[in-house]
Amino acid sequence: MRPYQKEYIENIREISALTGRKNPDGLSPEEYADRLLRDEEAIREKAARNMELLREGLLPALDHLFEADSEELGELEEFAAQLAGGQETADEGVFRLIHRALLSLARQKRDRCGMIRELYWLGMGYYWLCNKLVGLPIEIVEKYVSQMRLCFTEAAAYLKYFDEIEDGETRGYILRARANMALGSFKFQGEKIRLVRETLCIMQDGSYREKAPELPWDRYLYMTHQQMASSVSYSKETVMSSEDMASIMESAYIVYHRRLEEAARDGHTPLRWAFPYYAMEYYCGIYDMDHLMARIEKLMDRVDPEDYSPEGLYGMLSLPAFYCQYLEQYPQRIPARESYVEALYRRAMDYADSFPAQEDEKLSFYLRQLSFTYIETGGGVPYGVYLQKLLLRFAPEAYIHSRMVGEAARALCGLIMEEEPAFFDDIEKFRQIVDPEEKRRQVMEDALTCGLLHDVGKISFLELYTRTARQWFAEEYEVTRLHTVSGHLLLSERASTRRFAPVALGHHAWYDGSCHGYPETYRRLECPCRQMVDVIGLVDWLENISHSAQAYTGLEKSFDDAVEEAVSLEGRRFSPMLTARLRDRHVVRLIRTAFEEGRREACRRMYGRERSSENTSTAP
Ligand SMILES: [Fe+2]
Ligand SMILES: [Fe+2]
Repeated sequence: MRPYQKEYIENIREISALTGRKNPDGLSPEEYADRLLRDEEAIREKAARNMELLREGLLPALDHLFEADSEELGELEEFAAQLAGGQETADEGVFRLIHRALLSLARQKRDRCGMIRELYWLGMGYYWLCNKLVGLPIEIVEKYVSQMRLCFTEAAAYLKYFDEIEDGETRGYILRARANMALGSFKFQGEKIRLVRETLCIMQDGSYREKAPELPWDRYLYMTHQQMASSVSYSKETVMSSEDMASIMESAYIVYHRRLEEAARDGHTPLRWAFPYYAMEYYCGIYDMDHLMARIEKLMDRVDPEDYSPEGLYGMLSLPAFYCQYLEQYPQRIPARESYVEALYRRAMDYADSFPAQEDEKLSFYLRQLSFTYIETGGGVPYGVYLQKLLLRFAPEAYIHSRMVGEAARALCGLIMEEEPAFFDDIEKFRQIVDPEEKRRQVMEDALTCGLLHDVGKISFLELYTRTARQWFAEEYEVTRLHTVSGHLLLSERASTRRFAPVALGHHAWYDGSCHGYPETYRRLECPCRQMVDVIGLVDWLENISHSAQAYTGLEKSFDDAVEEAVSLEGRRFSPMLTARLRDRHVVRLIRTAFEEGRREACRRMYGRERSSENTSTAP
């Protein structure tokens, strides 16, 4: 690899070490807070250096790809391979950039094998992106899913030239692309099942096998059965036809029994494929929902809480997610199972706390899945607290930012309420409070929680925030904008967090409703909480531009310059009722002090969390 490529990868490694969980290592809380600040500065410097490396090394190389020799192309392929998803040095944005360029080159040169290979890898690049969007409704993620599927579909279309293609590697790409057409979410589950069924036919077709005996056909076939068996996980009974059910049942049977045989050999109990098998028995009418739930409970009770393998993760976190998904569909079954569900979440959180820190990325994927199916119960951890725990554990920088925003919003609201006690009276809860002091106290408390929860949607794209090895590309900016929609979705579906959902949705919208802000679904004038959304939007922007977002936006401003710019955006980006207050130096000082206090408090909590990972308190 070229020196710029090596340096880039080394920087990713260093940034990853700087953003991981930080052990206090005998430091005092103050020293710990200083260390966090120094690490953030180092990340910013390395991220800026990486942009330089791309600008000076990679981008000119991609511009002159047509003249590149095979050695240079080989180096690019190797560089991209180091950046592939799922690794410590993953940078899927640059991975897609390189493979997109290599694909156009292969098209220009009419290099069929190259095109198939590059389509496959570009499809994988999109697959890793789609994986981050797990849990979001298909309408929101459709654009990215179809980009992925188009790549795989085009590569798979070369199946009709299977005879002409001599190269075994390319034939392998065609078949893997064919199987991957069924990855990601679908509008109709039946469509996915149909695609997997067709792949199964191809994998079993003797004529293809004869043409390419060098390929691992049995492994392909088994993996396709796994794909079919797992198609059941998210489906409701009404969306599967009887033919679909028969196909899934057959695959679930094959996979489960293979696992049982393996388990008998190595003495393990198979969990991973028992659930789809049980679920299919239920869908086929062999037993009822209560029986299915009892069987899942039995599986979950058998999991070893110290098993950190994929099987353990599945049992400790995925099975509870499926279980709660059924409870969501049949809420009348919740009351009898409340204490069981509470114990499940407690166990899941303890498991997460004791999970090896270096494997955080895998763990966060599973916990995210759990956050989309979370069931709130009377004695359990409130949903808002659970979400903050996730932020604190997996995205400490986002947690610090959220607490800073919360403290500043609380201070600003306290001041507003002293002067204008009816300022937030559009919100029914506050309108009804007669005692002005009590009203002020409650507004301030809600302002803090709004700040703490405004960015919880970031949980969906954690890696983009926590492993920022450079500025975001346009495509990544676009994806992270979805944190507003995703946060709104998470918060609005649970009773205790519902009233904070508008803040998650609208905190990046502009006061004048112009297209500079997002998302389109936020309509300021229709939102009774708009004043609070405006407050969070302003302090969030001040904090981001003067500190938190600098690594991935490349914009840097001092706090005073940020205040000045906010005032200049009065009536356009920000509410004039709020920016008017920024003209008062006392208010500006109040916000700055609240930011400092918020940062100190967040660091103190991180310090406490890392010092006693056995801490069982429910406070984040
Ligand atoms: Fe945000
Ligand atoms: Fe924010």
